[in-house]
Amino acid sequence: MPKEKNLKLKKKTFQAPKGTFDILPSDQVWREKICKIANEVAKGYGFGKIETPIIEDTELFVRGTGADTDIVEKQMYTFKTKGGDSLSLRPEFTPGVIRAFLENGLSSLPQPVKLYSVGPLFRYERPQAGRYRQFNQINFETIGSQSSATDVQIIQMFFVIFKEIGLKGINLQINSIGCKDCRPAYRKVLTNYYRNKTDRICVDCRRRLKENPLRLLDCKEEKCVILRNSAPHIIDHLCESCHNHFKSVLEFLDELEIPYMLNSYLVRGLDYYTKTVFEFWPEDESVRQAALGGGGRYDYLVKLLGGRDTPAVGGGCGLERIINQLNAQNAKINLPASPRVFLIQLGDLAKKKGLKLFEQLRKENIYITESFSKDSIKTQLRLADKAGAKVALILGQQEVLEKTIIIRDMAIGVQETIKQDNLVKELKKRFSKK
Ligand code: HAM
Repeated sequence: MPKEKNLKLKKKTFQAPKGTFDILPSDQVWREKICKIANEVAKGYGFGKIETPIIEDTELFVRGTGADTDIVEKQMYTFKTKGGDSLSLRPEFTPGVIRAFLENGLSSLPQPVKLYSVGPLFRYERPQAGRYRQFNQINFETIGSQSSATDVQIIQMFFVIFKEIGLKGINLQINSIGCKDCRPAYRKVLTNYYRNKTDRICVDCRRRLKENPLRLLDCKEEKCVILRNSAPHIIDHLCESCHNHFKSVLEFLDELEIPYMLNSYLVRGLDYYTKTVFEFWPEDESVRQAALGGGGRYDYLVKLLGGRDTPAVGGGCGLERIINQLNAQNAKINLPASPRVFLIQLGDLAKKKGLKLFEQLRKENIYITESFSKDSIKTQLRLADKAGAKVALILGQQEVLEKTIIIRDMAIGVQETIKQDNLVKELKKRFSKK
């Protein structure tokens, strides 16, 4: 750098990396509301909040999410540290939450252990509406229960959240993809179905046929969709235990009056799922971009990551996709109320006293704002008006010395001078009347 001291630095402006975005103060209204509701629902249903690191050992996702999944194969941000370790930005919560569950001895707590997370995830995707490289999820995991009631509870919680934030028209699609006892037989049936049709499927599906034939059901290529429509259905090939589990899930949903659509092609793009899988989709085709959320049961993941045999189920919803959907539905949100009090200060002494007074009123839960960067009374009165304040407090040198303050009713312009000691009482009296 020193050598270039005299060189003029080339002016450069920066932009947020492709597929990422800034969340500005004006964007916070919905986010805060959704997170607050999710937080309350999670608490109400007995979920404890867990925060895991954004970076994890790459191997955790290779093993957990699955080496052959799109997420691990194509979408992970992976890097070598100076120490030579391979770390990845988390593309999903589930493997990290299970790692934390095992590492911190949560597996010895009474089961099931219910964990909830909110935060950013990273996937290297082709950016488009509702598909970002950094996005946020609300995620629930119930670890240590094989009861179908726990599958349904996760689904129920998302519907409660949708309802409480005022999101309408969300469809539940559901399927069962069996277990290690019944899935291999279905895979054979499916592979046989596709065997002499490989010239009618896409290149990716030809590869998938060898590695994970269930993923063929998920392909969006037109020719693959056409062929898929006559493919054998997995629910006709479930073992007795998976069949009964799924039947019971559907009965619980009926009991809760949560409508669902059976989708025998729903397989989900992550390797760990067993039995129940589900997704939430907007019903309005014109605004649908992608699933709002999804999840399912994953009875082998805990063991795969080094724990005991522990059945589990969970689900995640994209925060940005929920907000996009709310906007598409023109959902209304109460904007934050205007400040009730605007503090006007005139002169250095008043500014000094004003800083202290501001904090005293804030501590009394009086919604107050100020403009310490301005000096003229005219400007400050205009700002008070713009802010929608009911009352302006005017503090000049004389008021500081006499320990008084002027209260101005902004609607009618009437002013009176009162003792500073009586200010809180007077403000509370005025606001309790309205
Ligand atoms: P997922 O289906 O990969 O599942 O993601 C869940 C949700 O995250 C999606 O439905 C979508 O709303 C949001 N999402 C995913 N990718 C993006 C993206 N690029 N941009 C914006 N939003 C996105 C999982 O992640 C599983 N871990 C869920 C789970 C928890 N299963 C069991 N437990």
